[in-house]
Amino acid sequence: MQASAELILSASHPRQFPPEGPPEIAFLGRSNVGKSSLLNSLVERSVARVSSTPGRTRTINFYGVHSAGRQGPALRFVDLPGYGYAKLSRTVTAGWPRFIEPYLLERRSLALCVVLLDANVPPQASDLNLARWLQEIGRPMALVATKADRLSGNKLRQALVALQREFAAGDILPYSSRSGAGRPELWRRIRAAAQERQA
Ligand code: GTP
Ligand code: MG
Repeated sequence: MQASAELILSASHPRQFPPEGPPEIAFLGRSNVGKSSLLNSLVERSVARVSSTPGRTRTINFYGVHSAGRQGPALRFVDLPGYGYAKLSRTVTAGWPRFIEPYLLERRSLALCVVLLDANVPPQASDLNLARWLQEIGRPMALVATKADRLSGNKLRQALVALQREFAAGDILPYSSRSGAGRPELWRRIRAAAQERQA
């Protein structure tokens, strides 16, 4: 998949969101899980800021994504700020900037929420809460286990089984932004969700 991406805008308030348009794919997960890296890996270039300091992405960043041979921005990728390491208490999005919830609740163009889990970390309550909440509000979701390159084959399988059990999810896609493992599979999910949204 040959794709390019450019930043449309960074929003810190719902009134700054760009007008509804092409299907949007949002990347969600705890701070430092690798959302911006995954976005860069999908388009095979560095458009989103990556950092070893958690909390790097503080705005909702909208990217126009163009695929080779197609006219116009076929898709948008939406890089969201991460939620904290702290256990989420009363609302799923506690500790999350206030503009994220309206985006997830109200955005008509939102076609797929890609929820990133760290393959190296046991299942986390905050991630489970988020996944349950997205299900409740009826958002299509793809679960991805990131940083898969840090685990050997056997350990990775064990980690995926543990996550699948906890999330009651049939498929959790292992991904490495470092090697690109999982990229074609995730693109397939993204394309399918975008087509469904447009149908
Ligand atoms: P925030 O914007 O702070 O919420 O973080 P983020 O989720 O966007 O994470 P980011 O992409 O900035 O990556 C955080 C750190 O994890 C960086 O040091 C990355 O190099 C590292 N990282 C991300 N993806 C991978 C991966 O697939 N494999 C390995 N080994 N490291 C990764
Ligand atoms: Mg980021």
